Amino acid sequence: MAIVVIRQDNKIELWKNALQKADNSLKVYSYLEDHPKDEITMAVTWKHPTGTLANYPNLKFIASAGAGVDYIFEDDSRPKNIPITRIVDPFLAGDMSEHVLAVIFAHLKNLNVYKLDQVANVWGPKEYLRIKDVTVGILGLGELGALTATDLTKFGFKVQGWSRSKKNIEGVATFSGANEQQEFLKTTDVLVCLLPLTTATEGILNKALLSQLPKNSYVINVARGGHLVDEDLIELLDANHLSGACLDVYHTEPLPKSHPFWNHKKVHMTPHYASVSDTNSVIPQMVENYKRLNSGEKLQNLVDSDKGY
Ligand code: GLV
Repeated sequence: MAIVVIRQDNKIELWKNALQKADNSLKVYSYLEDHPKDEITMAVTWKHPTGTLANYPNLKFIASAGAGVDYIFEDDSRPKNIPITRIVDPFLAGDMSEHVLAVIFAHLKNLNVYKLDQVANVWGPKEYLRIKDVTVGILGLGELGALTATDLTKFGFKVQGWSRSKKNIEGVATFSGANEQQEFLKTTDVLVCLLPLTTATEGILNKALLSQLPKNSYVINVARGGHLVDEDLIELLDANHLSGACLDVYHTEPLPKSHPFWNHKKVHMTPHYASVSDTNSVIPQMVENYKRLNSGEKLQNLVDSDKGY
């Protein structure tokens, strides 16, 4: 019984060491080193190279090192019918909420526009927005969306949320299902996408949906690049229907240098860093799940394969 860490960034050793430090009886390997593939029962992965999960004949469980699991379902060669878990973690949710708050405050006070003015040596005072006049609409009221919504209410924003099934969150007006979407959109000044990426939500941020927002509304995508139809966003920004967008996630990451977002004045970008799993905080739940796996207990934070999140 052993664990393999599979990811394509430079954090393999960090995760391997953190797992071993949490329990030095664990056998943990990087997928890049020589390792006994038939001993591997658990894969800890983040955006693994497609096909690598199929290398382990005795794999019993796939643990995503992030909140999202879309990349696992996209790999058709993955072993099917074994449990997949995701991270549910207060830091992951809190960091996301803080990021969204920072982006919204920067939008209210035009900070991104002033940065461009500064670079161009332009002195150009602009009107700003007040919290009391802004309704933030959150698409997706899972762990991250619900906390972000609640935190925004504490600052006095009017907050509403839309999700597939009805949710109740104190101080937040909630909408659900296709027939309540229009009502939600038409009163949303700042739209925040925090949906899971599934076949049902892919391309949801398209012209048809974004045009239902009021003129001058602002769009924040911190979920997945696959939610957004890039050309539709650019069209609505250029037509002055939307006042701007702040994106953390992209169809291809890193975003190719030739992509029009890089030089678009109304697009503000961060490099998929809104909220990142903190090994100190999330390793204990991974170790706990590994123990549960070995003792035949139910795993925590299981993903529903039918829903895809
Ligand atoms: C980050 O994007 C995550 O899914 O944790």
